Amino acid sequence: MAEFKTSPGMRDILDPESGRWRRFVSAFEHTVEPAGYRQIIPPLLEDIGVFQRVGEATDVVTKEMYDFVDKGERHVALRPEQTASVCRAFVQHRPVTPWKAWYAGPNFRYEKPQRGRFRQFDQVGIEVLGATDPYLDVEVIALGWNFLAGLGLRRLTLQINSLGEPTDREKFMSALSAHFTNELDALSVESRATLSKNPLRVLDSKRDEDREIIARAPRIADFHSDEARAHFASVRTGLERLGIPFVVNERLVRGLDYYRHTTFEYVGGTLDSAQNALGGGGRYDGLVEDLGGPPTPGIGFAIGVDRTLLACDDEGVFEPPVSSVRVFVIDTTGGAEALVLTDQLRRSGISADRAFESRSMKSQMKAADRSGAEVALIIGSDELASGTVVVRPLRGGDQISVHRDDLLPALQKVLT
Ligand code: HAM
Repeated sequence: MAEFKTSPGMRDILDPESGRWRRFVSAFEHTVEPAGYRQIIPPLLEDIGVFQRVGEATDVVTKEMYDFVDKGERHVALRPEQTASVCRAFVQHRPVTPWKAWYAGPNFRYEKPQRGRFRQFDQVGIEVLGATDPYLDVEVIALGWNFLAGLGLRRLTLQINSLGEPTDREKFMSALSAHFTNELDALSVESRATLSKNPLRVLDSKRDEDREIIARAPRIADFHSDEARAHFASVRTGLERLGIPFVVNERLVRGLDYYRHTTFEYVGGTLDSAQNALGGGGRYDGLVEDLGGPPTPGIGFAIGVDRTLLACDDEGVFEPPVSSVRVFVIDTTGGAEALVLTDQLRRSGISADRAFESRSMKSQMKAADRSGAEVALIIGSDELASGTVVVRPLRGGDQISVHRDDLLPALQKVLT
């Protein structure tokens, strides 16, 4: 018989990891909701055109998209990220600005799977549309930083850069292109191919033969307009005022083409360098317009859930939650008493579980221990006859026998 396994780069998230996953998203919600962000749940699948706006020259668009023609002859794609979908939703629904949205959910990129790099991966993120204030950049960067630090991560670096105005970026790109074209013969084969598509991407190369040529490449800061320089200076000052440490990395270009002005990455200290960005983002003034809306500035970030949890493992922080079952009911009289009692407990708000298949007392006690419950409630034939229940603490303490009518108050006293 055929035996199926998950496809490469796709994973089942089982307990206890799934519980940790929920806590992660909940911690994110509790970081951003009090700052005025409201959730958006965009669809997993959109017209491919929405995602093509992310950058015609990026790997995400040209190589990694899961796209197909659906039964209605529409060319659609599974989302590789959510910023483009949020901007599409903004154009479609025209909410009042500034519009602050947060999201959580899976994305798909056909990448080469490795530690911290999957084909289906989750992100949590925020986007703000409709404001250019540099202190908004600081608010956004700070929320991501506070969230990651709040998980307990300590080996974390914030890298920031500014790509300037679109015209600054154009001039910088031409200068870069001229520089790399001059050095064409010495560049790696991969970087030569990248150069013809987007010279910015060459800065991303980690290949040895490119390193020295990249070090001598023109610097974006030399191309900043006065406005871009002032915006970036305010971002840096704002971060300093909040006491958030950062390093300016002029080579930080990010993997998507829509960025302008501020870009940033939260870099973890434990993963391989190709996968060490736990999250990243920036300004993308221009994307809403590209999607058919009015000129609208935007900024946001996304944090990779899978990758950040790996970093948490490496640092030994943000442990999975422990079992939430507090009471385990043991019934050696056939199981009907356990049926009624667990139902009664659950209706009273006390988490409870039980064994099935009328197992022996010994085997049910083992199951109770495994469940992590604090208390076992035992009903044998004597208890059934006398209408009582034995309350046995599983982490030390004496057991007592109580009448069924007095069970709930007695239990409340035993549960810590
Ligand atoms: P990104 O840098 O492509 O940005 O992805 C953000 C984060 O998602 C990465 O730092 C990483 O943690 C995670 N990630 C990306 N690809 C994978 C993968 N194949 N496997 C595991 N994790 C991955 C964006 O997606 C932008 N939408 C961020 C943004 C929001 N910019 C502005 N607003």
